[in-house]
Amino acid sequence: MTTTAVTHIATLVTNDPSLGDGTPLGLIQDAAVVIDGDRVVWTGETSKAPATDNAVDAGGRAMVPGFVDSHSHLVFSGDRTQEFHARMSGRPYSAGGIRTTVAATRAASDEELSANVARYLAEALHQGTTTLETKSGYGLTVRDEARALRIAAAHTDEVTYLGAHIVAPEYADDPAGYVDLVTGPMLDACAPYARWIDVFCERGAFDGDQARAVLTAGLARGLRARVHANQLGPGPGVQLAVELGAASADHCTHLTDDDLDALGQGDTVATLLPGAEFSTRAAWPDARRLLDAGATVALSTDCNPGSSFTSSMAFCVALAVRDMGMTPDEALWSATAGGAAALRRTDVGRVTPGARADLVLLDAPSHVHLAYRPGVPLTHAVWRGGERVR
Ligand code: NIG
Ligand code: FE
Repeated sequence: MTTTAVTHIATLVTNDPSLGDGTPLGLIQDAAVVIDGDRVVWTGETSKAPATDNAVDAGGRAMVPGFVDSHSHLVFSGDRTQEFHARMSGRPYSAGGIRTTVAATRAASDEELSANVARYLAEALHQGTTTLETKSGYGLTVRDEARALRIAAAHTDEVTYLGAHIVAPEYADDPAGYVDLVTGPMLDACAPYARWIDVFCERGAFDGDQARAVLTAGLARGLRARVHANQLGPGPGVQLAVELGAASADHCTHLTDDDLDALGQGDTVATLLPGAEFSTRAAWPDARRLLDAGATVALSTDCNPGSSFTSSMAFCVALAVRDMGMTPDEALWSATAGGAAALRRTDVGRVTPGARADLVLLDAPSHVHLAYRPGVPLTHAVWRGGERVR
């Protein structure tokens, strides 16, 4: 196997507190990283780097682990520009807009949906996202949900079955019938393609009992749980997620003290999606309160055509620092190691020997610039699985 060293990295974020400066980010100054095949095999100071077949001089740029975006909805067709325009002119966000995308997605061909996923995945990779979870949820029939997941699985390993996004329009008068479908024939058709099951537990979508039925059916089938919880108002989603051992409770915008305690004590990751609050003009989730309660916090894009049409993890980092009480170090950790924790992955989200060689070289001397220079494209180079993809 060919070895490659990236040398003269001004600041390397390893996310290993046993390395470098001993902080959670494990920062090493004037660092080098050695890649062998698809793995990192060595990190340390440039002056101590072992001999390798190839070398790349980072030229004093910072390197961070590839971003881990643990929450997106990329299998869709159409867009909702008009809805966004109306919202920015004063209309509130409602989950009802999901129906617009369901109609467009059902009408699209497999090729169109697949091309869309590929397009947004490439857009994310270009900006340094090297691991990306994505969901169904805009099909809401057995056929359309299974096809969404089959298409998603052709593009990423992190695939989530979200048949319980909203009650399908055909079942508007029979929500219990829809839950039976989601936990029965739809689950049968979808489980082979998915690693995760998710439910939108929210007023206007699924209540606590319905969400429990959906999640327990998925768990019984060997899927692991994640939950859209407490986005638009307080509710049972977070408590349910922690009780069922879900890997992640996502959104967490409206939390009671009990929710906070549950997340602080359990090992369910609180995944915050600031693109959604930005694009719906909603109040920010309080990351500081979660961190102070001892919760593990992840940051993700929630990329979808309705509530958060961004694929930029750097943008989410900047929002979290500016408006959610996170330090630049905490936000970077949450966008990398935090996302890995939310996906229960140990091979990504860090730059340490044995990890997958997913690396982002920034056009900046430190990771702090991701928040300090918001909106500026700072991605200089990206490696995914040891392969330079940008
Ligand atoms: O995570 N909350 C539910 N689902 C998406 C929004 C989907 C849409 O509006 O199309 C979310 O924000
Ligand atoms: Fe979402």
